[in-house]
Amino acid sequence: MNSAVVVEKPRLSVIEAADSPQDTDGFAKAVVDGLTAERKSIPSRFFYDEIGSGLFEKICDLPEYYLTRAEREILTTRAGDILADAPADLTLVELGSGSAVKTRLLIEEMLSSRERLLFTPIDISRAAIEDSADRLLSDFDTLKIVAVRSDYHTGLSILKQRNTGPELILWLGSSIGNLDRDEAVTFLQGIGTTMSPDDRLLVGIDLRKDASVLEPAYDDAQRVTARFNLNLLDRINRELGGRFDPGTFEHRAVYDPDRGRVEMHLVSWVCQTVAIDGMGVEIQFSKGETIHTENSYKYSLDEIDEVMQAAGLVRNGQWFDSEGRFSLNRMRKA
Ligand SMILES: C[S@@+](CC[C@H](N)C(=O)[O-])C[C@H]1O[C@@H](n2cnc3c(N)ncnc32)[C@H](O)[C@@H]1O
Repeated sequence: MNSAVVVEKPRLSVIEAADSPQDTDGFAKAVVDGLTAERKSIPSRFFYDEIGSGLFEKICDLPEYYLTRAEREILTTRAGDILADAPADLTLVELGSGSAVKTRLLIEEMLSSRERLLFTPIDISRAAIEDSADRLLSDFDTLKIVAVRSDYHTGLSILKQRNTGPELILWLGSSIGNLDRDEAVTFLQGIGTTMSPDDRLLVGIDLRKDASVLEPAYDDAQRVTARFNLNLLDRINRELGGRFDPGTFEHRAVYDPDRGRVEMHLVSWVCQTVAIDGMGVEIQFSKGETIHTENSYKYSLDEIDEVMQAAGLVRNGQWFDSEGRFSLNRMRKA
């Protein structure tokens, strides 16, 4: 995988894949493919432009969005246990690091017992990578960051060519929930193939619970999640010359207990045709037709074990918050 350093500052390098398509190309293709399919959808990774990443930070502070608080509680109270057998030369890798506010709890714990640490976050959002790196570097004098701005897979292959020692790979925030259960197995399997026997993977996984808790977490009273979802239409307007009127769409979040997933949709309340000038297409919507924008799968403890085993991984640590809502799962290769 060819890569290029695009930012070089003291203690910070940001790398991008040299031959990866520009953001807009990937977004444009996904939008046209997704909106011309029989059941309209847009992959959830496109939420995270600069505005979307900022809105996600606000979501993390909402009273209804218990996930971040629960995961932070586990990291605050159990960082010592999670890192108990960590080798001295461990590199901390993070998939979809976002603001990395929870990661700093692990960084702090590690730097309490060693002089230096290399942190290598991977995220598709340039804003998230650069803002979080600036904040972390000003708080931790002996931290070095080599960040990769790319999708998870590209980022992992780039890092594999650079990191040689043991790694703790973090995948927090229940981002695993955005994949179907089969995709989650394939994804974990893929990470497993890049792991050496000393490497560990720490995955934050949200647990199954009642719709009365789950639906408000994805449809809050202040309508921040609605703005986050509707920002996708604004993003199409801004970047691809779309002519969406976001006022004619509504945010919807519904829990499907059989599949164990919260689905987010954008619902067109009118029959309409929307042009996307930059792509030369027109998209037709019937009244009530939806664009499926995200799934957030929830797991039972058995389902966590099943997915891990199917991926060829073994659990060697599991922690919960005090209300039993969220889990952190540490894994190694079988
Ligand atoms: C739900 S947020 C979680 C952020 C943070 N890990 C947390 O726990 O709060 C998902 C993050 O993953 C990034 N992301 C989403 N899909 C990605 C992908 N396919 N490859 C790389 N990063 C991705 C987004 O930009 C965003 O920062």
